[in-house]
Formats: sequence, structure tokens, C-alpha cells
Amino acid sequence: MITSNSSQSKKTQVSKQTNKLHDEAASIKKNSEVKESTIGIRPKTLKDVIGRKSLCESLSVLIGAAKRRHESVDHILFHGPPGLGKTTYANIVANEMGSKIHVTSGPAIERQGDLAAILTSLHNGDVLFIDEIHRLNHTIEEVLYPAMEDFKLDIIVGKGPSARSLRLSLEKFTLIGATTRIGMISSPLRDRFGMVQRLDYFTDEELRDIVLRASKIMKIRLFDTAAMEIAKRARGTGRIALRLLRRVRDFSTITFTSRSEEAQIDEITAVNAMETLGVDKLGLDDLDRKILEVIIDKFEGGPVGLSTIAAAVSDDVETISGVYEPYLMQKGLLNRTKRGRVATRKAYEHLGRDYVVIDNGFDISV
Ligand SMILES: Nc1ncnc2c1ncn2[C@@H]1O[C@H](COP(=O)(O)OP(=O)(O)OP(=O)(O)O)[C@@H](O)[C@H]1O
Ligand SMILES: [Mg+2]
Repeated sequence: MITSNSSQSKKTQVSKQTNKLHDEAASIKKNSEVKESTIGIRPKTLKDVIGRKSLCESLSVLIGAAKRRHESVDHILFHGPPGLGKTTYANIVANEMGSKIHVTSGPAIERQGDLAAILTSLHNGDVLFIDEIHRLNHTIEEVLYPAMEDFKLDIIVGKGPSARSLRLSLEKFTLIGATTRIGMISSPLRDRFGMVQRLDYFTDEELRDIVLRASKIMKIRLFDTAAMEIAKRARGTGRIALRLLRRVRDFSTITFTSRSEEAQIDEITAVNAMETLGVDKLGLDDLDRKILEVIIDKFEGGPVGLSTIAAAVSDDVETISGVYEPYLMQKGLLNRTKRGRVATRKAYEHLGRDYVVIDNGFDISV
């Protein structure tokens, strides 16, 4: 019994350490991406923001009213797919309030004590930004409830019969949460946010303006038409648009240095750069196309199961269903049916295949 317990606890310890390593690796990867992409480019005030008019209006009312009343801003939850501005807005709120922002993330807070230490270090008006807030442990989440609602922290001192509960007062802070998985946030936590805001994909025109704004900051000379080409291939996402801009700049540096370092990037150069990177005119990359090719060429257009597709393209089911499929469906290239995935006529045309209707007897009206 003792041995099994100790081996069990060793296993738990090892798995905890592995999870921690994964989280650290993910955070290092994310930070390096953020560093490369956001130095000086991330909008700092509401004035710098491209698009998102109604969100900016709501935030400006929220911030303006809080400032007039000399209060902290109500707690805000931003949710939506990656790269659409959640972290950017958290920083903007803090900047506009002239407050200090403390940044952490759900998986980084391992114990109730970690959160208590963070909360007690906050000053009046400070912003606490918890990224990936859906990954907060439930017992830790419970510490947040009284902190958010009454600015109180309940702690237990001592153990056993001598244990006492203490209620500490906290300074009036603003919690800003960000999540890509709103469905995983418990309703008690969600309800304690005064504003819950979804960030949607950008339009091509908004992305073009994001690219043009960034190109000015990065001192890249770019025609509007080139910016539009980048925007069209950026999958509605600010971060992807900025990444493509940097790769297009690399391509133009290599191509034009011999002629003139100042060459302005035109549409043709931008398109060539992105084609070289394997990003086509719908913004599909190699794996997107491979998924469609597998369905069309190997399974007669479908229906075919997700795990079969994953095995055929040598990737995992979660990446395909969470990252690739939503975009293919959004572009009308793929349908999810009861019997599996089906390539649409548009997918055949995009890949230059003849569209043959094969009667598979499936119902695509799911
Ligand atoms: N409205 C906007 N105007 C200008 N640039 C924007 C806007 N929204 C986002 N960006 C740019 O897009 C990039 C990605 O935004 P951000 O890092 O805030 O996304 P995120 O939603 O926090 O992503 P993740 O879920 O991966 O953390 C930023 O570098 C920022 O410069
Ligand atoms: Mg972020």
C-alpha cells in the first residue's frame, strides 16, 4: 500500500513537472513570438487601435466614467481566437487609466498562496492581467470570487482545530482576464466580470490598415496594394498579418538590396514572397492544402473521419479540429457532416481539381 502510494505520488510529481515544463516551453515560445512581433507595434492607446469601433467606444465610456469617479475600472474579460488583440487591450486599459499592469497567466498560478501574494501586492487602481484564465485551477478560482466582488481575501491560518479564517482587505484593482476558450470558464467567474467582450476576426481592410500602420513604425516602404495582399492571406488575424509583413520584408531585403535598399514593396513582391512561403491567395498554408488533398485525392471528396485525416497528414486530431478546420470551414472549403469531413466544390476549384459529385449517400445538412 505504502509502495503503491509512493509510486503514485512519484508519478503525480513527474506528471506535474512535465506539465510545468510544457507550460514553460509554451510560454517561452509565446514570449519570443510576442517579442519579435510587438516591440513598438502594439497599439498603446485607444486612438492607435485599428477598427473595433464599438469596443473602443464601450471602453472609452468605461474608462472615462471610472476616471471621473476616481474609481478603478470594472473587471473585464476578453475572449476570442488567438492573435486578435486581447493582450493589447489589457495594456491599453492600463495605459489609459495611467495604472500599473501586473501580468500573469492561469497555469502560472499553481497554489492559492501564489494568487494571495499577487493580490496583496496590488495598489489602488492597478490592473491584474491573467492570460489564459480558463486554465486557473478551480480551488484558486474560488479565491478570486470575494477578491473581485468585495476586494476581500479569505485566508486560513493554522491547521486542525486551531485553524482560523481571516478576511483581509485588498486595494481596489481591476482584473482583466483573457481566454481563447470562453466555454471553459465557470459561470460564477464569468458573471463577476463587469464587461465580457468577444474579439472577432478582422476584415481585410482592417488588416490592411494594421499592416500599413506597422510598416510605418518598422520603416518599411509598402504600397497599399501590397498591404492588401498581405491582409487577404492573414486569416483575419492581426498577429498573422504582422508575421507575413516581416517575412515579406525579409524577402524584399534579399531581392532588392543589390538594387536599392529603399525599394518600395509592391504587390508582386508581396505575392511572390508569400507564395514562396507556401501561403496561397486564400491564406492556406501547406497543411491546410494537404488536408483538402487527402480528402479529395484519397477519399473521393469524403465523408472521411477526422482521425483518418489526422493519420494521413501525420498531425494530431486536436490541431486539425481546433486550428485548421475552423478556417477551412469559414472559407467554405470543408463541411463537417455526421459521417465525416467533406470537401466542397470550392475546395476542388481552389486546388484545380475537376469537381465530380460522387453519391456517397451522406447528409451534409448537419
Ligand atoms: N485593433 C488593433 N489595431 C492594431 N493592431 C492590433 C489590433 N489588435 C491586435 N493588433 C496587433 O495584433 C497583434 C496580436 O495581438 P495580441 O497579442 O493582443 O493578441 P491576443 O488576442 O492577446 O493573442 P493570444 O490569444 O495568442 O494571446 C499585436 O501585436 C497587435 O499589434
Ligand atoms: Mg495574448
